[in-house]
Amino acid sequence: MSKLYWIETWGCQMNDHDSEKMAGILSGLGYDPAREAADADIVLLNTCAIREKAEEKVYQALGNLRAAKQAHPEMIVGVAGCVAQMSGKSVRERSPWVDLVIGPRAASRLPEHIARVQESRGVVDTTLYQDSLLRVAKPVRQSGDRRKAYVTVMEGCNKKCSYCIVPTTRGREDSRTIQSLLEEVSGLAEEGYLEIEFLGQNVNAYRCPETGEGLSDLLRRAGEVAGILRLRFATSHPLHFGSEIIRAMADLPEVSPYMHLPVQSGSTRVLKAMRRGYSRETYLAKVQELREAIPDITLSTDIIVGFPGETEAEFEETMSLVREIRFDQMFSFIFSARPGTAAEMLPDECPAGRKTARLMELQALQRGIQLEKNQALVGQLREVIVESPSRRNPAELAGRTPGNRIVNFRATGAVPGDLLTVSITSAGPNSLRGELVEREEELACSGAD
Ligand code: SAH
Ligand code: SF4
Ligand code: F3S
Repeated sequence: MSKLYWIETWGCQMNDHDSEKMAGILSGLGYDPAREAADADIVLLNTCAIREKAEEKVYQALGNLRAAKQAHPEMIVGVAGCVAQMSGKSVRERSPWVDLVIGPRAASRLPEHIARVQESRGVVDTTLYQDSLLRVAKPVRQSGDRRKAYVTVMEGCNKKCSYCIVPTTRGREDSRTIQSLLEEVSGLAEEGYLEIEFLGQNVNAYRCPETGEGLSDLLRRAGEVAGILRLRFATSHPLHFGSEIIRAMADLPEVSPYMHLPVQSGSTRVLKAMRRGYSRETYLAKVQELREAIPDITLSTDIIVGFPGETEAEFEETMSLVREIRFDQMFSFIFSARPGTAAEMLPDECPAGRKTARLMELQALQRGIQLEKNQALVGQLREVIVESPSRRNPAELAGRTPGNRIVNFRATGAVPGDLLTVSITSAGPNSLRGELVEREEELACSGAD
């Protein structure tokens, strides 16, 4: 009987894709996917350390695994990802039934570590190897038949945002060669993938180590690969986001009119304390340049409320920025102090309840804006790639527009990966409803025959 693996993943898309690559490594070792954690010979938790809550979830999951491990002592329990990197051997001190602690840039060493665990038990590897998962074996893609694939172009972050644990967990920036990326994209196109998302913690900092080409060159060259209909990239840092990328986006029909540009705060004073390297005004200027070049761009952002020392007036500056820009999507968080970061020790007098109230206020504002912006799309046509059955009604399908909006609609016979045109019929704050256009026309034609 073959050996089985189970991987659970938290965190960002980079982590999702790292899990796909770890699944690829395990599959190369003869493991098959298990149906549940309790059946597996190896369980890997691919973790996120971005906020304290994300970290707590890992320890809860480890608690749940304890019984399975007792019932099946040969099971290898591994903690991978950013909590593994941040906490190292203290993961095993806290949860002694963990066999393996392996940081994101050591995950390529899985085969040898599994062998060591099988001999003696207990491996901790948090080395920030240069030849990290960036360059490993063929991933087992979890996207099923969605025909959308992630490709990591660079890893690590050389920024030092004062609140952020990522530079500690992912190490210094390291980019893949453009040649290896284009080979991967061509291979994916041949396999039938329509959509590629280029990933990097600071994706604008991508630079081919051999030719010096940057992200805009990569987009231009990937756009030439036959069969690839949509290209996206994340996450962009506003400081490095500029005219070259905007021009590539405007020139290339394959690059989706979607931009995730985390602003974090609307207050220049807070941005400075966050060490973001730009002001409210320069951020606004970049958005203006982007919108002038690509008027129908979907703009999304991340915002942190309750950064230490954020005053009521500074929070109001974030609210006014959101009113001014009117983002299409937003991810918002309450500041969480992370170990070893510059902001960890900053004095913070704002009560937790007030921070929660700020988050609620911001989210209510955003919900209203999103609803208005989505309603303005009613009556328009959009091309969608079908992703999956709709979450609310499995009899319907969910598709994604080029601008990254979800549309739910009925279409008998359509399957994930299909490219269809829908007419938007109604809108909520988080999704759209639509009706299939092309199929009806086809039916009308066949009816006339
Ligand atoms: N590479 C990405 C960062 C990913 S983290 C980038 O540079 O944008 C995703 C988001 O989590 C960040 O944009 C930020 O809004 C939020 N975040 C990061 N550290 C945080 C912290 N300590 N507390 C609260 N939110 C945080
Ligand atoms: Fe973190 Fe800042 Fe780097 Fe983004 S740019 S990963 S927020 S340090
Ligand atoms: Fe989390 Fe690490 Fe990604 S901390 S957000 S999994 S880079």
